[in-house]
Amino acid sequence: MPVCLYKYYIRVFFIKYFLQSSKRMRLFPVLYFVSLLLYLALEVHSQDDQSGFISIDCGIPADASYTDSATNLNYVSDSGFTDAGESKTILPYYNTSGLPQQLVALRSFPQGIRNCYTLKPVQGPSNRYLIRAWFMYGNYDSKDVLPQFDIHLGVEKWDTISFSKTTSLERKEIIHVQTSEYIYGCLVNTGLGTPFISALELRYFNTEISNLYTDDFVSLQLFGRVDFGQPLESCRYKDDRHDRIWDSIDYSNSSIVYNPEETLTELDFYVPYKVMRTAIAPDNTSNPLTITWEPLNVSDQFLIYLHLAEVQTLQSNQIREFNLYLNGNLWTPNNEPVIPTNQTSVVRSSAPELPASKHEIVMQKTERSTLPPIINALEVYSVKKFLQSQTHSQDAGSIMDIKSAYKIQIENWQGDPCVPQAYAWDGVGCSYNDYNFPRITTLNLSSSRLSGKIASSIANLTMIRSLDLSNNNLSGEVPDFLSQLIFLRILNIKGNNFIGSVPSDLLSKSKSGHLLLSMDASLGGGDTNRCTSSSCKKSSNKSTIQMASLVSAFVLIIIAVIILTLVVRNRKERIKITSLETLNRQFTYSEILRITNNLEKSVGEGGFGKVYHGHIGDTQVAVKMLSATSAQGYREFETEAKLLMRIHHKNLTALVGYCMEDNHLGIIYEYMANGDLDGYLAGRKPYVLSWEQRIRIAIDAAEGFEYLHHGCRPTIIHRDVKSTNILLSENFQGKLADFGLSRVIPSEAGSHIITEVARTLGYLDPEYYASNRLTKKSDVYSFGIVLLEIITGRPARGIDDDSEHIVRWVSSRIQQGDIKVVVDSRIRETADINSVQKAVEIAMLCVSIASDNRPPMNFVATHLKECLETDFIWNETRREELIGEMSLTLESNGIDSQE
Ligand SMILES: *[C@@H]1O[C@H](CO)[C@@H](O)[C@H](O)[C@H]1NC(C)=O
Ligand SMILES: *[C@@H]1O[C@H](CO)[C@@H](O)[C@H](O)[C@H]1NC(C)=O
Ligand SMILES: *[C@@H]1O[C@H](CO)[C@@H](O)[C@H](O)[C@H]1NC(C)=O
Repeated sequence: MPVCLYKYYIRVFFIKYFLQSSKRMRLFPVLYFVSLLLYLALEVHSQDDQSGFISIDCGIPADASYTDSATNLNYVSDSGFTDAGESKTILPYYNTSGLPQQLVALRSFPQGIRNCYTLKPVQGPSNRYLIRAWFMYGNYDSKDVLPQFDIHLGVEKWDTISFSKTTSLERKEIIHVQTSEYIYGCLVNTGLGTPFISALELRYFNTEISNLYTDDFVSLQLFGRVDFGQPLESCRYKDDRHDRIWDSIDYSNSSIVYNPEETLTELDFYVPYKVMRTAIAPDNTSNPLTITWEPLNVSDQFLIYLHLAEVQTLQSNQIREFNLYLNGNLWTPNNEPVIPTNQTSVVRSSAPELPASKHEIVMQKTERSTLPPIINALEVYSVKKFLQSQTHSQDAGSIMDIKSAYKIQIENWQGDPCVPQAYAWDGVGCSYNDYNFPRITTLNLSSSRLSGKIASSIANLTMIRSLDLSNNNLSGEVPDFLSQLIFLRILNIKGNNFIGSVPSDLLSKSKSGHLLLSMDASLGGGDTNRCTSSSCKKSSNKSTIQMASLVSAFVLIIIAVIILTLVVRNRKERIKITSLETLNRQFTYSEILRITNNLEKSVGEGGFGKVYHGHIGDTQVAVKMLSATSAQGYREFETEAKLLMRIHHKNLTALVGYCMEDNHLGIIYEYMANGDLDGYLAGRKPYVLSWEQRIRIAIDAAEGFEYLHHGCRPTIIHRDVKSTNILLSENFQGKLADFGLSRVIPSEAGSHIITEVARTLGYLDPEYYASNRLTKKSDVYSFGIVLLEIITGRPARGIDDDSEHIVRWVSSRIQQGDIKVVVDSRIRETADINSVQKAVEIAMLCVSIASDNRPPMNFVATHLKECLETDFIWNETRREELIGEMSLTLESNGIDSQE
């Protein structure tokens, strides 16, 4: 297992390193040695492996490909990666012998401001890739004017390309961390000439090589990569299996060039043997070896890698030992002089070096050293941060499918569909906010000459609000999936050749005012028995099946009727009992004192008042005494309290009764044995909730809200959602507390809400600041925060006001592409990553800044259940519970409709 070996080795090394360095001041640079054993293990599965490579020769005929004779790299045409631009070749005059074949043909982009290549490496997001672009003008357009233009990577600028002469070769290279499935390389016309590109290369960096560069989520832009002592040829694949290009530099005037003796152990794990076997030293042994460079931009921060190995056989009286200085400061591992051995080692920056107008590395031999310092190879990178997010992968994938399904040729349908905003695709509208990946919310393909069926990939545009497909030549049936798009508010399918009828769900949404549906009058609609084409086929083939299904449907209906009757009867009985038992449960203050044994045991304090433990007979209860001071508005209190007592749902703490006497207002709840959720998340209770338990609690809470928002008449907005208001029963079932309290508290006491709101800022809907109104969507926002707390185990906001808000904390981490780091470290290893991914997506949707972008609670509940399914712990017990839930919901809805 080479991988494990490597990791093991690094770990051993680091421990050793830190042990040593802890005694000393300086923590970096870090010195790596690579063991021979490791090399031997890795060597086995190396050589002609180009599986992680994409090598594109731009401008060669569509679908052409070849193997380059000099490098053995397999190049393909760019036709599969871009659909814009024109194929050109450099003038024959410049096509000299020895010119790399990739530079002969090129693709130029006279049309449009921005033109893009889209790459989708199979290794997917959260990986590091080396990306390299080549440009040689060669007067391909016979104008003999050198162009200048920008290149963008993803949605941000990467670099500017300019040329000093017709034959100058520009090569840009970056080691890039990719957070999305799609990598866009774009050429942008800045008004200084037509952009073009000669070749584009992508190399996947596996973990080993990727870790050598940096663990951070930054991209490294190549400043220089030099092979010393090799003046003639540069080195790349296959000598370098990662296809880095090591340029040769002629240092012979001032330096001794060491040609190899056969002493160096052949190691090409991270630097090719061919690169390491030559080195340079200063021509005068006592002189230092100095390397300097000036950054293009003074603020550039560099990461530096010095590759060292002894290339001579030393006599017993010879010593080669030297110190390293960077910009005047000692820069050696552990402050100890470097002694190259016959194994490759690297001295590297462990963090970006401080910016400077000029950088200088000085290598100076120590006093006892008899030989001058040497260097075999050097890499210098500038750190580049790509901060802006690309469009959500699912939306990007979906719109690209749509583009190819209809062969859409719209000039700016290139690169990322939503960002940068200035280049967003025509007809595509997106939602942008600070936290989330941009999402596609509108699509207008009116009069776009589309034909064929409605593309099924539209189903994946789950955030779409407006879809205009009017005036095309679309045919087939109007698919059912359109009614599954829960945010869809505008749908225009006029002026097409659809057959059959419109799905009844769409029609009913339209009738209830949830959807503005425009369609041709000739389209029939509302036939509930409309079947999908597949089921039609089956049943028309076998009329017996049709018969059988008719019979079974009939049987089902009868069973349903029987069950309904039973449920209804059952429900009526229960209502009778409830009304007898609770509807008049008004308690006197002296009864309250008896129940709580003179307010003996306080079990918590909420915004509305203190909570006491108590007993009514054998049943434990919690009594919340409200801090109200005036007697006015008590009649409303009574009405509301009675209303709340009639609300029953398994995920709401049940109200047992209330007290209203003099200045004493109290509410009596069922007692929840495990206290509030916050106690577990914040670690006040030692028990650690598992991932599955957390998701179940989240589902419980979401269902509670779903009921308050959609199942209750009148609708109840909680207004004070936070993890201390989610209580846990003995077996960790989650129930909402304090719902409807803002309704119950008499109006003057209502000012408590304001103070309470101020106390729990971390949960507060950002739109509240503008509107001063809390809505259902405010509850959704706060629930999103609770969900993030559940996932991360972090508080919404720390004790001190400066600590990072949980949304920022999570979003900065997911933008870096590593979803797992957001999970509470106590359960990180056991949480299923797909389930986590989904839960985080739901939470981030809930905390969208614009309330319109937040999903309704029923959506949240449904999708949280999918998290549980993904966690493959979906077992029989849960299924039974669900069946139980269904009848409960029926029951509670029934109570409301009794009004
Ligand atoms: C779609 O674009 C057409 C033409 O630009 C416009 O008339 C129509 O109103 C747009 N549809 C929507 C839903 O905005
Ligand atoms: C929707 O997206 C998922 C992955 O994001 C993909 O597997 C699926 O094939 C897509 N469905 C359609 C109809 O394009
Ligand atoms: C519309 O589509 C039908 C087939 O679906 C095709 O026969 C017809 O030529 C198309 N008409 C136009 C104007 O593209």
